[in-house]
Amino acid sequence: MSAQSQNSGTNTLMGVLSRFMNSSIGMKLIMAVTGIGLWGFVLIHMLGNLQIFAGDGGEAINAYGAMLKSMGGVLWVARLSLLGIAGLHIVTGIRLASRNKKARGPKGYQTLRTQYGNPLSRFVGQNMKVSGLIILAFIIIHLLHFTTGTLVSDDIFHSADAQGRHNIFNMVTQSFSNIVWVLFYAFANLMVVGHLMHGTQSLWQTLGIKSGKWGPTLEKVGLATAVLILLCNVILLPFGVFLMGANS
Ligand code: HEM
Repeated sequence: MSAQSQNSGTNTLMGVLSRFMNSSIGMKLIMAVTGIGLWGFVLIHMLGNLQIFAGDGGEAINAYGAMLKSMGGVLWVARLSLLGIAGLHIVTGIRLASRNKKARGPKGYQTLRTQYGNPLSRFVGQNMKVSGLIILAFIIIHLLHFTTGTLVSDDIFHSADAQGRHNIFNMVTQSFSNIVWVLFYAFANLMVVGHLMHGTQSLWQTLGIKSGKWGPTLEKVGLATAVLILLCNVILLPFGVFLMGANS
């Protein structure tokens, strides 16, 4: 293949990709695929965190954390992929929202009112950008809290268990003995629940399976996931750990 035809091939590919990423359907598909990735992460992360209630003084959760860290390069690939997916989701979400706002014009609110059934779904649907930005702020604070340890004291963040592993159990239980952290996590995770509840409904619509035979089942899957995250991340983890500390 000559250099010229190779170049024009690349340009065409870039052109197709750029047109796709700028089209409404392309943006919606990007939101759907990245949304599925983030949804999966939140669920897996939640299951991992529930090990805090194993009743073994932190053995399971500390071993889980050590196992993740022992993955080294693979963990970094996963972290960077998650960062890329989250970045693409945020940027595309903001672009899509501003494009939709322009397209709807002054009648936008009217359109939205008829689009969502009950007042709660309507409220959540109209505030996806706000909940998304709150979640972004939460993730930054959360990383400074539990990943870099910037927001916890050195002796808590650097404490090791009997096996010399990072004592995640101690770090989380000490943090959640403070009601301010408990309320902050409960509130931020409530935003995650709302965002996800509306996000999954849009996802089925984008993928064109909302009105099909699987529509009602998929709607229930979205709702069930949201309820699960509500029970575990909003109630059980922050308040349960708080009460566990108070009773020990
Ligand atoms: C009550 C709910 C949550 C708790 C108790 C919690 C707890 C934790 C803990 C202990 C870590 C550090 C793990 C380690 O050092 O190995 C962590 C990391 C992390 N969490 Fe959460 N988390 C919660 C909710 C969330 C949510 C809703 C998100 C995303 C929307 C999230 C995103 C992350 C990310 C991105 C990391 C960094 C992972 C890494 O460094 O590899 N977390 N979380």
